[in-house]
Amino acid sequence: MGTKNTCIGISILLVVIAVISISLIVTSLKKLSSDEVGLQYNTIQKTLDDEPKLEGLYTGPPGYEFIIFPNTFTTMGFYDLACLNSDGVDIRLNVQYQYKAHSTYMKKLILEFKTFKIFKEVLSNIGEAALHEACSHFNTTQFQTERGAFQEFLIKTLHDRYNILHCSVTDLQVNNIVRPAAYEASIRSKERAREDIRVARSEEPRRLTEADTEILQAETQGKIIMNKAESDARINHNKATAEAEAIRAEFQKEAEAYAFLLNSNGLGLTQEGFISYLGSRVIAAAKQPVYINLGTPAKTSYIAKP
Ligand SMILES: *[C@@H]1O[C@H](CO)[C@@H](O)[C@H](O)[C@H]1NC(C)=O
Repeated sequence: MGTKNTCIGISILLVVIAVISISLIVTSLKKLSSDEVGLQYNTIQKTLDDEPKLEGLYTGPPGYEFIIFPNTFTTMGFYDLACLNSDGVDIRLNVQYQYKAHSTYMKKLILEFKTFKIFKEVLSNIGEAALHEACSHFNTTQFQTERGAFQEFLIKTLHDRYNILHCSVTDLQVNNIVRPAAYEASIRSKERAREDIRVARSEEPRRLTEADTEILQAETQGKIIMNKAESDARINHNKATAEAEAIRAEFQKEAEAYAFLLNSNGLGLTQEGFISYLGSRVIAAAKQPVYINLGTPAKTSYIAKP
């Protein structure tokens, strides 16, 4: 009985030892894939290895782990990122690039940033700062006409800043550069106004010629009216002068005739005789029958001889 119990006890012990050994081996067995580079970190002794390890299966002291960085270029992207250009205009753009830390500096970077996640956040912040800086060096016109120069400037800024953190940058792409809608609208209305001005300028000579022609026509018309008025006035004046002349001559003749009637060298009429003469002249000149009532002095001359 006792021996049997001892046997069972030993078996259990062996199993427990085996389980412990297996679990120790399993926990100390680590794999790195082809796109990873790792640095061994002993979580118990808090020590960091010097040499980064590439793809493979590794064992190490119990409680060690790999701090892993990508062994390939990783994409960093900013989408619809807003930045102010040198005119203070709000520009939006998409920017993408690839970056990779030099594995020779991996220990230094891990001592500074602990994990790739934190390192990546710092790189993202630095990238965004580089973008804002590049934006502020270009005005709105340049964003339209010198995109290549903007891209060059940005890649240089990124290179300089990422270099400090032992990172290379490649394959920068900038696209979807968008100016604010209000800015676009005012640009369009400015272009429309410029076009209107151009049209007005091109029409100016024709309009001026038209106006000149109208002025000329009005002047000519004015001259014609003036000439006609002057000629009418001359005619009227001449006519009036001639009429006055004729009337004057007629009265002259009449006055001479009356003088002859009254003159003693002429007919030598008395006053009464002259008045009755005038009376007969009036009646003779009348075109209608005349009914008159003259005083007695004239009456004698009218008595018809029987
Ligand atoms: C934009 O910058 C260029 C180059 O410095 C300059 O020639 C141009 O006049 C600027 N445009 C405006 C609208 O400020």
